[in-house]
Amino acid sequence: MADMLLSTGVHDTIPSNYVRPENERPHLDHVIADANIPVVDFGASDKSQIISQIEKACRLYGFFQVVNHGIDAQLIKKVLAITLEFFRLPPEEKAKLYSDDPAKKIRLSTSFNVRKETVHNWRDYLRLHCYPLEEFVPDWPSNPSSFKDVFGSYCKQVRQLGLRILGIISLSLGLEEEYLVRVLGEQEQHMAMNYYPKCPEPELTYGLPAHTDPNALTILLQDPHVSGLQVHKDGKWIAVDPKPNAFVINIGDQLQALSNGRYKSVWHRAVVNSNKERMSVASFLCPCNSVLISPPEKLIADGSPAVYRSYTYDEYYKKFWSRNLDQEHCLELFKRDRETCPDAPTFPCPDTPA
Ligand code: OGA
Ligand code: NI
Repeated sequence: MADMLLSTGVHDTIPSNYVRPENERPHLDHVIADANIPVVDFGASDKSQIISQIEKACRLYGFFQVVNHGIDAQLIKKVLAITLEFFRLPPEEKAKLYSDDPAKKIRLSTSFNVRKETVHNWRDYLRLHCYPLEEFVPDWPSNPSSFKDVFGSYCKQVRQLGLRILGIISLSLGLEEEYLVRVLGEQEQHMAMNYYPKCPEPELTYGLPAHTDPNALTILLQDPHVSGLQVHKDGKWIAVDPKPNAFVINIGDQLQALSNGRYKSVWHRAVVNSNKERMSVASFLCPCNSVLISPPEKLIADGSPAVYRSYTYDEYYKKFWSRNLDQEHCLELFKRDRETCPDAPTFPCPDTPA
């Protein structure tokens, strides 16, 4: 029902089915303002320095930002402008694209998975498949008129950046540069354009509740003017304030599995504001569906046994979308331990007390 979209209305109060119970709320006054999230300069001439910065960031934070990444600043500006323009289109225009079916390859939707969840999130999003471009672009929106052109160029450049980062991550794990790109197969690329309208009660709800990303690598373009992204580290939420022309990169569940748990797919969430709308554009590199996810010999040879059982990405992705976003870490369900001990406790979401 397209009338569930938040971006088509004006909100003076929040409906009760967006309100979290007291002990699951964001507690914004406890969030740490100064992020110190690692920033990696991709323009630096010393590649070994980039590798060691990324190794440390992936191991300790699961998150980092990249600057001098080679994606044109003018293109980034256009992407953000069109995102805003899209969510400001008239309701009847947006209703044409609305769907709550997670299996659809192009859909405008709201919250996370409205068919399953009981409490909704203060977010609308347009989700698109982006690779191979020729296959999907014909079905993308043609309003705004430059949408296909601008996002087509953007998706190509983001993919190049992502593949380059996967190369550096491979090297940082002591593997050959092509390793991850090779084992992830013909990777799908998905994009979520997120729009978080002004919210009259930001303390009671989320834009996106705590979650980890199910894919391999996420490349996030943040609204340059409005904060909202937070990452969980050492038991605390840290704000990742926007940095001009930087991308936020985060390790997804599949890289945690492929690195045999060495690199972390960390919990992150998006909170909302009462006086400012916010947007973000997330690009996801996803393993080919049929690929078997299993750590390289090299990372299990040194006496650390495989933490997770082997599985196909297809199996993983179906499991991910069948749950609530803020349940336990989905990867916990694939731990080898669970075969012998199926009731072992799982790593719970930090905002949902067990
Ligand atoms: C996501 C995500 C954060 C944000 O789309 O997976 O974590 O700031 N987005 O919008
Ligand atoms: Ni995410």
